[in-house]
Amino acid sequence: MSGKETILVIGSCGQLGTELVESLQKIYGAAQVIAADIRRSNNPVFQNGPFEILDILDQKRLTEIVAKYKPTQVYHLAALLSATAEQKPEFGWKLNMDGLFNVLNLARDGGIIKKIYWPSSIAVFGPNTIRNNTPQYGAMDPTTIYGISKNAGELYAQYYFNRWGIDVRSLRYPGLIGYKSAPGGGTTDYAVQIYHDALEGKTHECFLSEQTTLPMLYMPDALKATLDIMHASAADIKIRTSYNLAGMSFNPNEISEAIKQIIPDFSITYNPDYRQAIADSWPAIIDDSRAREDWGWNPAYTLESMSKDMIDNLQALKGQAI
Ligand code: SER
Repeated sequence: MSGKETILVIGSCGQLGTELVESLQKIYGAAQVIAADIRRSNNPVFQNGPFEILDILDQKRLTEIVAKYKPTQVYHLAALLSATAEQKPEFGWKLNMDGLFNVLNLARDGGIIKKIYWPSSIAVFGPNTIRNNTPQYGAMDPTTIYGISKNAGELYAQYYFNRWGIDVRSLRYPGLIGYKSAPGGGTTDYAVQIYHDALEGKTHECFLSEQTTLPMLYMPDALKATLDIMHASAADIKIRTSYNLAGMSFNPNEISEAIKQIIPDFSITYNPDYRQAIADSWPAIIDDSRAREDWGWNPAYTLESMSKDMIDNLQALKGQAI
């Protein structure tokens, strides 16, 4: 698995990309992992291996980078997330769809890329979807531009697989929570900021209401799922749109209670904004049994164990910074 693979990570400086590059460097060797993004982040992980500036809408530049490094795998993570895409709907659609087409078409026509990872999201579901234990198949009808683009992207991924044999693998991520990198533009981002506020002794002003339950996943589990689906044998990937994936579900009140178990003085207030409507259109609890059956998915973290780990690690990082 680790021998001759070369991996290109597009959108490498985002919340997931930063941590994924670090994990891939450990598995394949830093020289084999090419990080690319529209701008460079100063996270030290990017000093370990090659880095290229890439606007994913620039097909010529993408073609040049692929010709230069000959990546056998591409992790294509560049996208506008739910909240940002609602602010810039036309650009959200363009970036999310044309970016995907650029990667898929190069895999089809270039003969170099053998495997693609492309993330989908719980945003593919909408108000007509069953909210509790949302099944893999059922009503989708997303109402956000982000969700519409991910829903269409899933169907295109499946189409490229069926028609041209392009090996695209995908997960419908819930909100991702981690301490190493910041999220940007998502409706679930409060669940990261809340830990920072707690450690800084601030009251967290939540942009979602107290009872808004959403599916979430701790970053070590998200990385495990991503690497596991990419390392599974192609025959085990029976869903070529995207797999439902879950770790835990909680609302802002429940996460604040979990934090109070560790930081008793922590406080939260509620001031819902436009992101409330996005959250209200999404599922609360996801049924991820197909991922468990097909390629052995099994998350390790609960709200309680994640909270302890987040707080321990953020405390250590903040200690280093002093
Ligand atoms: N975390 C994402 C968002 O909030 C969901 O995929 O946009």
